[in-house]
Amino acid sequence: MTERLTIALIYGSGREGRFADTIAGWLEPELAGFHQYDIIRIDPAELVFTPGGLDEASAERVESQILQADAFLIVTPEYNHAYPAALKAIIDSCFRPWHAKPIAFISYGGVSGGLRAVEQLRLVFAELHAVAIRETVSLAHAWTQFDPAGNPFRPGQLNGQLTVLMRRLTWWANALKTARIATRYDEAAA
Ligand SMILES: Cc1cc2nc3c(=O)[nH]c(=O)nc-3n(C[C@H](O)[C@H](O)[C@H](O)COP(=O)(O)O)c2cc1C
Repeated sequence: MTERLTIALIYGSGREGRFADTIAGWLEPELAGFHQYDIIRIDPAELVFTPGGLDEASAERVESQILQADAFLIVTPEYNHAYPAALKAIIDSCFRPWHAKPIAFISYGGVSGGLRAVEQLRLVFAELHAVAIRETVSLAHAWTQFDPAGNPFRPGQLNGQLTVLMRRLTWWANALKTARIATRYDEAAA
């Protein structure tokens, strides 16, 4: 299947002054080069959070975006060896719309490049019947990898890793979309 796919780009950080915006400045123009994808953006900085999670309007908006998506690309930093609370609130805002869809991760942080956050997210997404793919793009000491204008010092290496990740994600997105159309996922274990 080579039809168009929708990818939801989900940011983990909503902090003011976040490094996520530097990552986005590199990533979003690169993603535009993957022409088979329509890209939708889920950004904690544009959502309203309450002690119980997203507020009703934000939760409805996020659920409909997750439902629409065929694949997910999660861009997450590492906070105290885990992923940010804002990202968990986004993940927990719905259940079935995640089912039988692939997830890829771009992570960043200090020495670990955010990989400890990613390993925890793999456990979370297993519970949501989603498929977390192996390939990642991981930025260790992320702030040393971009010049003051936000350009990566090693664009070839970074873009090469992104291309591999996107090819894997596309394979899974096509395979799982075909499977979801052939058999409703809920019915597979009914
Ligand atoms: C509350 C907090 C905890 C952090 N804990 C870690 C950590 O455990 N490991 C790490 O590599 N970096 C850690 N960092 C550094 C972040 O990965 C780094 O500041 C990153 O830029 C945060 O992403 P953001 O600016 O997009 O929010 C932490 C930062 C914050 C704010």
